[in-house]
Amino acid sequence: MTQVKITDTTLRDGHQSLIATRMRTRDMLPIAQKLDSVGFFSLEVWGGATFDTCIRFLNEDPWERLTDLKQVIKDTPLQMLLRGQNLVGYRHYPDDVVIKFVEKAAENGIDIFRIFDAVNDIRNMEVSIKAAKRTGAHVQGTISYTTSPVHNTDGFIEFARELASLECDSICIKDMAGLITPHNAYILIKALKKEIGLPINLHSHSTSGMALMSYMAACNAGVDILDTALSPFAGGTSQPPTETVVAGLNNTQWNTGLDLPLLIEIKEYFEGVKDKYRGILDPISEKIDTRVLIYQIPGGMLSNLVSQLKEQNALDRFEDVLDEMPKVRADLGYPPLVTPTSQIVGTQAVLNVLMDERYKVVPKEVKDYIKGMYGKSPGPVSEELIEKVLGEEDKPITCRPADILEPELDSITIQAKELGIVKKEEDILTYALYPQIAPMFLNGENREEELIPAPTDQTHATHQPVYNKFKVVVDDEVFEVEVEPIGEMSIEEKRPVPSGSTEGGIKSSMQGMVLGLKVKKGNPVKEGDLVAIIEAMKMENEIHSSYSGIVRDVFVSEGDTISAGDIIMVVN
Ligand code: CO
Repeated sequence: MTQVKITDTTLRDGHQSLIATRMRTRDMLPIAQKLDSVGFFSLEVWGGATFDTCIRFLNEDPWERLTDLKQVIKDTPLQMLLRGQNLVGYRHYPDDVVIKFVEKAAENGIDIFRIFDAVNDIRNMEVSIKAAKRTGAHVQGTISYTTSPVHNTDGFIEFARELASLECDSICIKDMAGLITPHNAYILIKALKKEIGLPINLHSHSTSGMALMSYMAACNAGVDILDTALSPFAGGTSQPPTETVVAGLNNTQWNTGLDLPLLIEIKEYFEGVKDKYRGILDPISEKIDTRVLIYQIPGGMLSNLVSQLKEQNALDRFEDVLDEMPKVRADLGYPPLVTPTSQIVGTQAVLNVLMDERYKVVPKEVKDYIKGMYGKSPGPVSEELIEKVLGEEDKPITCRPADILEPELDSITIQAKELGIVKKEEDILTYALYPQIAPMFLNGENREEELIPAPTDQTHATHQPVYNKFKVVVDDEVFEVEVEPIGEMSIEEKRPVPSGSTEGGIKSSMQGMVLGLKVKKGNPVKEGDLVAIIEAMKMENEIHSSYSGIVRDVFVSEGDTISAGDIIMVVN
C-alpha cells in the first residue's frame, strides 16, 4: 500500500484563492471538529494572506484564530504557509523577528511549517527552517515551482538537496499558478523520490485545468501528500476538490482512506459559507483560465490585477498588462510568481502600461528586488535595468539579504509598548509585521468590513463583477453611485483634493494612499526632490517634484486616499 495523504487547504488557500481570504473564524469553528475527524494529513489554516486580511479587513486577531482552531482540532496537525524571511508580510525581517515569530506560531498551535522563498534562495529560508526545527515542528521545505528558460528538473533537485541538508522533514512542490504538467510532475517527483528520499507533497492550483491530471501523474510517480480544498472552495484559482481526489483514488493502491460521505457532509456546510461570501466571489477566479499557461499568473493574482486596474480606472488595459507581465519577468531574471514577487512583477507591469513608458515609475520594492534585497534572482536581471534603476554607483548586494538588517525586536517592543498596544507578546509581532495598520487594529479602532451582498441577478453578475457600484435611475436619468467601504471617511469629510492643471501642481500618477510627506508648506524644493510616498497596489511609490521653488500648499495628509491625477501640493 502506498496510501496518499491529503492536506486540506479550505481554511487557508481555498478561501484565499476564491474569496480574497475573507472567511471569518466564526465560519470555521462550527465545522472544525468534523474536519478534525476526517483524518487529513494536515489542515492548512494559517499564513499566506491570513494575517494581513485578519487585521486589515476582518478586525480579527490572527493569533486568536489559531488558538481557537487549535482548541477544537486536536488530532489533525495544523499547518501554516511561511514566506521564509518574509514571514507573513511583504518585506524581509531581521533574524530576531523571524525567530520570535516562528516560536510564537509553534507555541500557538502550528505543527507543520511549509516554508518557501519566492526566488528559491535557500539563504532566505535557513533561519526560519532552523527556528521551526528547534520547536519540534514538522518542517516542509518548499520549492517554488515555475517554468522558464532558467528553470529545470536538475535545478529543482539541487535546491531540494539544500532543503534536505537543513533537515527538512518533507519537500513540497508549490505550483502556485497551476503550471505543472502531468509529464513534468511525474519526472520531477520521480527524481525527487530517488535523489532526496523525503516524503513529497504536491501543491497545485486548478487555474489552468491541469491539476487533477498532474495529481494522477504524481501518484504514479510516488507522491506522498496532495493538497486539495473542499469543493465549494476548490477549482479555478484554488486547489482541486478534496472529495473528487478522494473518490478518484478509491480502490487503487493510492486510496486515501478518507470517508467520502463525511466529506460530502462537510462540503454541504461550506456551501452555506460560500453563499455568504458570494458578493466578493469574483467569477473570474472560479473559471479555468488557460492564459495562465502563457502568462504564469498564480491563483488569486489574476483577480488581484483586475482590482488593481479597476482602482486605477484602467480595466481596458488588462490585455496590455497580460502582455507586459512576461516581459517584466524576463527583465527581472524569471522569478517564480508568488508573493511577493508576483506583486513586484505584476505592479511593475501595470505601471509600465499605465505610464505608457516602461520603468518610468519604479516602486521601492522593485528597486529592492533589483538591488538583491529579495535574494538572488534565478536568472540575471537585465543589465540595462540595473543601470537605469540603481544608477552608476549603486551595485546589487551579494550577501544574504537579512545580513544587512539590524535586529529590530527590542526597538519594536519599546515602540509598541509606548503606543500602548501590547496586551500579549504576540501583539509585538503583529506590530513588527504591519506597523502601519496594526496600531489601529490593536487599539480596537478597527471595524470589520461589511459583507457585500450578492447580486440578485446572477447572469448579469458574471459580466460585471463590480458590486460597489450601482446604477440609480432618477427621472429617466442614470446615475452611477459608488458605495464606499465602511471604515473610510465619507466623501464630505475629506478635504477636497484639486485635480486638473494648477500651475506648479504636483500630481499623483496613481490611485493610492499617502504614506509619507517629505516636505511641508514653506519648504524650498528642487526639481526631482522626493516630496511624497504613495502606497498603491501594496507598493511604495515615490513622487518627485517636477518644479523648483517653495511648497505653497499641501492638499493631503498622511493616510489620505487619493486618485490618479489629484494634485497633492503646489510648488512654484
Ligand atoms: Co497555493
